[in-house]
Amino acid sequence: MRIAVFSARSYDRDYLERANKDHELVFMDAHLESDTVRLAEGFPAICVFVNDDVNADVVAALAAGGTRLIALRSAGYNHVDLSAADAAGITVVRVPAYSPYAVAEHTLALILALNRHIPKAHARVREGNFALDGLLGFDLHGKSVGLFGLGAIGSVVARILHGFGCRVLVCDPFVDANDAPSYVEFADKRTLLQTVDIVSLHCPLTPETYHLIDAEAISHTRDNVMLINTSRGGLIDTKAVIAALKVGGIGHLGLDVYEEEADLFFDDLSDHIIADDVFARLLTFPNVLITGHQAFFTHEALISIATTTMENVSCYENGVSSGNEISLSVIRGD
Ligand code: NAI
Repeated sequence: MRIAVFSARSYDRDYLERANKDHELVFMDAHLESDTVRLAEGFPAICVFVNDDVNADVVAALAAGGTRLIALRSAGYNHVDLSAADAAGITVVRVPAYSPYAVAEHTLALILALNRHIPKAHARVREGNFALDGLLGFDLHGKSVGLFGLGAIGSVVARILHGFGCRVLVCDPFVDANDAPSYVEFADKRTLLQTVDIVSLHCPLTPETYHLIDAEAISHTRDNVMLINTSRGGLIDTKAVIAALKVGGIGHLGLDVYEEEADLFFDDLSDHIIADDVFARLLTFPNVLITGHQAFFTHEALISIATTTMENVSCYENGVSSGNEISLSVIRGD
């Protein structure tokens, strides 16, 4: 099939070309959005990433241009209007699991780097400053960590934290406690927030989880709680988090995702002025560590994403199910 690959960076080209055997890939730097959707005209398949905006208008334009398949290079699909795709007869496929280890390990990297002030320590040592003032951390051993979501990634995070000697609490209304490992304790949202030293988010962004961590949620946390988000930016009300950072309600914040990241992440903007005042404010805090949606970015994950994406397209072309179609009825719980 001819596939228009949107938001293609050099690594996307490398890994997709290596995984491709049967298809014609046309790489485009542009994000997919209303202004760029005309680039997809005549392509039976398109391939998109997390900050492409596949809204209802885009879906309508894709359908009019002859597109029948949208292949996501991601597990998350909150950036796609699935109802519109369903109505237009466009199939949407995703990569449901590629490397939960990549994201889980990055989550731990943020926790450890924040706790032990690694960026500040590195900068000091490079300048010949070997003073330890301001670098005090805490033992992870014995601390309580609360996870929202015990799916593929949350389960790996739980296992790693258990290895550190942490108490692991989980809030996940869709997981049966009997199916979870014995070292995990289930709790409701409020109890979890009141109990733990670290909160880490591993659930999808849905209408129900939008701003899961807002001012009300933060009002239940311990003072100086550490908050980590490697899932989706919209899970956190960033302005409420900034207010809590200013008064010590939140003691550390580690982000790999940001609710307005679409205009920032994945591009080199070092010569540009950042117009997003909320993001700019986040960068002023010494106890905030942000990475630009790189938790997935390991060699193993990119191989898996590329291989599954090409298989998804081949299955569609051959009229067989890959098992990776996003079914609206399953999402609705029909
Ligand atoms: P998954 O589908 O295996 O697990 C998600 C879990 O969240 C499920 O167990 C589900 O029951 C639970 N959940 C759903 N609604 C919930 C709620 N209201 N409260 C608590 N738990 C809830 O997904 P996976 O693979 O573990 O990924 C988790 C998220 O990580 C994805 O949705 C995606 O947004 C994000 N992600 C981020 C990446 C990055 O590079 N930063 C890369 C890959 C995924």
